[in-house]
Parts: sequence; C-alpha cells; structure tokens
Amino acid sequence: MRDHSQDQAKWWQQGVIYQIYPRSFVDSNGDGVGDLPGITGQLDYLRWLGVDAIWLSPIYPSPMADFGYDVANYTDIDPLFGNLDDFDELLVRAHGYGLRVILDFVPNHTSDQHPWFTQSRSSRANPRRDWYIWRDAKPDGSPPNNWLSDFGGSAWTWDERTGQYYLHSFLPEQPDLNWRNPHVRAAMLDVLRFWLGRGVDGFRVDVIGFLLKDDQFRDEPPNPNYVAGKDSPGDALLRLYSRHQPGVHEIIRSFRRVLDEYEGRVSIGEISSRLSLSAQTAFYGDGDELHLPFNFGLIHLPWQAAAISRFVDVYEVALPTRAWPNYVLGNHDQPRLASRVGIAQARVGAMLLLTLRGTPFVYYGDEIGMHDVEILPDQVKDPFEKRIPGKGRDPQRTPMQWSAEPHAGFSIAEPWLPVAPDYPTVNVAAQRDNSTSMLHLYQRLMQYRKMTPALNVGSYRSLMSTADDCFVYLRQFGGQRRLIVLNFSAAEQTLTLSGLGEGRIVISTYLDREETTNLTSLYLRSYEGCIIELV
Ligand code: NOJ
Repeated sequence: MRDHSQDQAKWWQQGVIYQIYPRSFVDSNGDGVGDLPGITGQLDYLRWLGVDAIWLSPIYPSPMADFGYDVANYTDIDPLFGNLDDFDELLVRAHGYGLRVILDFVPNHTSDQHPWFTQSRSSRANPRRDWYIWRDAKPDGSPPNNWLSDFGGSAWTWDERTGQYYLHSFLPEQPDLNWRNPHVRAAMLDVLRFWLGRGVDGFRVDVIGFLLKDDQFRDEPPNPNYVAGKDSPGDALLRLYSRHQPGVHEIIRSFRRVLDEYEGRVSIGEISSRLSLSAQTAFYGDGDELHLPFNFGLIHLPWQAAAISRFVDVYEVALPTRAWPNYVLGNHDQPRLASRVGIAQARVGAMLLLTLRGTPFVYYGDEIGMHDVEILPDQVKDPFEKRIPGKGRDPQRTPMQWSAEPHAGFSIAEPWLPVAPDYPTVNVAAQRDNSTSMLHLYQRLMQYRKMTPALNVGSYRSLMSTADDCFVYLRQFGGQRRLIVLNFSAAEQTLTLSGLGEGRIVISTYLDREETTNLTSLYLRSYEGCIIELV
C-alpha cells in the first residue's frame, strides 16, 4: 500500500540508520582493530537485520589521540582501516545491497598533525597561521580568557616557538579551525565535495554548534548549576561565547548548498541536548540547514513512561513544519542502553525507537543487548578517561560480539579493547539461532517498520493511558493504523483503551504472542511492549 506521500518520503526519513564504530566492528586483518574490509564482510548481516544506512565514525588518517576525531587528512583513509580502494569497495557493495553510507565529518577541529596546523604553528607569518585560532597571552602570561576544554583544563595551549596560545575545544591535539577565515570554509566545502563525488550518501557532522566563537573572546560566566565531581569540569562555565554563536547557521547553510548539488544526500548534525528545544530545532533552518539535527532527548530522560511520552509530545509540537524528527538511544559517547535501563527495558526501548515517528539511530551492538564493559585501569584508551576518571567512553566502544569463538569472533588477535565477558552467550550467532532473542526483536521490528507506512511515514498521536507506567500512541497512514503500547514497569498491567474495538497484536517484545485482543482490557506483562494492528 503506497501512495504519493509515501513515495515522496526520502530514504533517510523512512529508513533506519545504524552507527558503526569502525575500530570495534570486525577486524579482517588480525591487528586487533576493526577495519573497512571487515565491515564490507558483514553487509549481508546488516541487510538481513534491515538497516537502511550505516554511519561510520571517523575513518580518516589520524594519530588517534581521540580515536579518529583528530583528523590529519580529510580526504584519505587511515591505514588501520584500509585505503581508498577498500572504501570504494565498501561503498559499491553497500549500494548494491541498497544500503546507504554516511561519513563522520569533523569540521570544528583537526589533529595537531594535520599539515594545515603544522604550517600554522610554524610561524606567525605562515599563510595558514589564521586557519586556526591564535591569541596573545594576558600580560601575566596566562591564557587569553577563561574558556575550558570539554576534556578538562583550559581550552588554550601555549606554543613556545611562536609565543601565542591556540584554542582547542577538546584535546590540545585537536586545535580548533578558524571558521571566520574564508579559505578554511572553502577548503572544508571541498572536503564535502570530495566524498560526495565518490558517492557517499551524507554526513554526520561533529559538534556542529562549536564552529564559531565570539569575536571578542569574552570570558564565560560560572554555571550556577554546576556540580563539581558529577558534571564534566568543562560544565563549570556557561558556554555563552565559545559555542552556538548565531553565525553558525550561515555555515550550515553553506554545507547544505553543497549537499544539494548532489541527489538525495543527508546532513545530520551533532547538537547539544542542553539547548532549548527551540534552539535545537533552529538547526533545521528554513528547510535549508540540517536534515536531521540529532535528538538526544531519550538518552538523558528518566526511563519512565510519563517522562518519555511528555518529551515526545513536546518535541513533536516543537518541530517546525516539514521538519523530520529523529531519535537516538545510544552512541559512542554514551553508556549503552542495556546498561542504562536494564535488558528487559532495553527491549521496550527497541520497540519505542523503531515505532516513533522519525528516523531511528541504532548503535552497533545494541541489537544484541551489549552492555558497557568494565575497563581496568591499565586497559583505558579513551583520553577523556585519562584526563577525567569516570568519564571514559571505552565501556561502550568494545568489540562487536559476533560469536562464541575466541575474541567473540571480532578478531583473531587480542582486540584493542577487551571483549565483554558475556560474549559466549550474548552474540550474533547465538541470537540468530534463538527466535525470541533481542536480535530477532530488532530484526522483526525493522522489517515490520519497512513494510508498514503507518510506522515509517505515518502520523503520531499519543493516547491517554489508564496505567501510569504505560506509553500508548497511535501511528496512522491513510486507513492504516497501528497502536503501540509500552509497559515501562516491572508490574503487569491491564489497560482499558475504549473506543478502539478489537486489535491484533503483531509483535510483542517477548516475540511469543500474535493474537487478536479486546482493547477494553489489554493485558501486558512486565516490561512488555506490543504493536497492535487496528482494524
Ligand atoms: C563529539 C564526538 O562524538 C566525540 O566522540 C568526540 O570526542 C568529540 N566530538 C570531539 O570530536
């Protein structure tokens, strides 16, 4: 059942986007680090699962101070991951399967090993000096202002040779580019063209709100809500001047114009969920900025039906006309879903993510319920953890658990991060053989979503629930209606949904019931979610 508006929906609206952290997906050459041929070898799996696009965290040449978010060359592949031929092979094979490929674009900063920066720091007279943000010390020799790095400490590092400070929003090895310089803008737009011309389907843009800084470099005021020891040290200040300057929207429009030179590409931007909803949705622009400014709301909310349903309703209303929603439950910077909410609730999370109106982002491994892995002090890799213990992101970046083979089938060698101890039972091979596994739940939800316009393009409306701990909503496309009922509590629930008559449960998160039911008395087990076809 297709109609005009469904045909008009773009692939990135209807489809599911799956994030791969390339270091940890599949290691094909036995060096303990995942790589591009490894990903290519698992395209069959991704197609079986039902994802429509893969987003690869950075694969460019990098000293790996921040594991690829410190780019030393924007137009090549790090040898750890392969080379441009491997990339082209991945792209062609993925496209052959109807899978889109999205790259991570890191425009705010480069590596300090990028030739642009080595030139910039070579002398004050170098033509590339102004490609980065250099300032004089205060008279007492201290940094030009009080700005803080997100990874702890001052955002300024002193350069002995040229006698100035340079700015870095993250590590000193990640100097911030100067986006006020038109040559920087032109060079970075050319980077987009390089990959778009090769055939990539879009970009996830790193910390897009950071690109412009206050031109007067004013000190930032203290954050009155800062809780030392709990919040990141960088949160001690209100970031009024070091990020989210209004001019950033013009830069985003320039990205978009380049994307629009090509057919059917997507732009996704990493923005802070601490911004007001209106500041977040401003990143859609007038339909001329990002296609999808990330919506991280669900990650940070208490895992309760009332909080989540309220959030979804408010977000739906806040969206500008024609702006397309999206939802994220996990990524390489956040503790894993199963560790945050528990494995039973993670199944409800899967149903929520894959039945809301908007593009779902699935983080690799969440489809088998991978947990955060305990990292011993001598195993720590993440620079964030090394600088601020307790903040590390290694636990959610561990190798994909493919099988019960040594190293979870990820590699024949010792992996760069430890494999989760639960891998003998929590792995793709075992779950493929178990028809009620988390993996089958994800697969079933993705396949069902794909063939059901009510879910992939239909409207959304929440319904009052007679049970406090349940989130109930209706998705509708033309005459096709699907009711989603999610029990967020450990208690069994019986809901009264009057006026809806009978319905047919087509998927339960337990994957064990398909039956016709009277909706005036709908029984749900502990942490059970159901998709119900209404007739
Ligand atoms: C956001 C990325 O998601 C994170 O992993 C990275 O460390 C910072 N940006 C710096 O690029």
